[in-house]
Amino acid sequence: MLQKIAFSLKDKIALVTGAASGIGEAIAEAYGAAGAWVYVADQNEPGARETALRIEQAGGRAVAVKTDITVRASCEALVNQVLAERGACDVLVNNAGVGHVGTLLTTTPEDFQRLWAVNVQGMYFLSRTVFPSMIERKRGSIINMASALGLTAMEDRFAYTVTKHAVVGLTRSMALDFGATGVRVNCICPGRVETPFVQQRLSEYPDPEKYRAQMVSTHAQKRMAQPWEIAGAAVYLASDESAFVTGSTLVIDGGYLCGK
Ligand SMILES: NC(=O)c1ccc[n+]([C@@H]2O[C@H](COP(=O)([O-])OP(=O)(O)OC[C@H]3O[C@@H](n4cnc5c(N)ncnc54)[C@H](O)[C@@H]3O)[C@@H](O)[C@H]2O)c1
Repeated sequence: MLQKIAFSLKDKIALVTGAASGIGEAIAEAYGAAGAWVYVADQNEPGARETALRIEQAGGRAVAVKTDITVRASCEALVNQVLAERGACDVLVNNAGVGHVGTLLTTTPEDFQRLWAVNVQGMYFLSRTVFPSMIERKRGSIINMASALGLTAMEDRFAYTVTKHAVVGLTRSMALDFGATGVRVNCICPGRVETPFVQQRLSEYPDPEKYRAQMVSTHAQKRMAQPWEIAGAAVYLASDESAFVTGSTLVIDGGYLCGK
């Protein structure tokens, strides 16, 4: 029977990390607009508060929470706050992440450990804490922010490529082990998205415009995405319309991977 397609998140409880900036900020705002209660988590507390305020000003409901996802106790406190205040968590978006430029030999053990802690271990801490409550309710959607570099490598991005491949593995493993519980786990693999993350990277080059042209030329569409172009996919993966989607790697890359 034909169902009405709504893409609504009405009254779902959603937790988004890295929501003070860029892609996470866009996802949090899209979730607020789609009717969810949004927990805006970030280590940047003023930024998280600004995102939450914008959601409220647009008629949504949001709570800002200062969180450092590299600290297990901080992850557990965040999830426990959501469960205590709202009684459930329907959606966890593991979005916070950091970049790094370097090869195997120029990436120090400290760099590698930092990338691992933010890009992978934080997802593990948060997912592990929220999962039992989702299993108990027989529903839940976990969305992990990977990257096109979770599916291919790029020169001079050793630690980033390693950690984003790990995000794809973590997603598939969780989805497989718990597929029958009703909890779904997916990841999004964006190409370049115009966020402070990328603007920072560009500013480190002697000729940012030249590097920017080089960056976009690797995408079939010859442009970067805007954060809202990723947020739409995160709404879909959080909504009931994606009920049969688990373990997937949703590529949103303007054709970055299609010629590789
Ligand atoms: N921008 C891109 O081109 C692009 C492409 C592919 C994947 N991604 C991924 O998308 C995600 C978001 O990237 P973005 O471009 O929006 O970055 P961004 O730098 O604009 O935002 C990242 C947010 O994460 C937060 N954060 C970092 N470390 C944290 C920690 N330990 N605890 C809590 N919060 C922390 C930052 O404060 C920031 O608000 C990342 O996982 C990134 O790897 C980005």
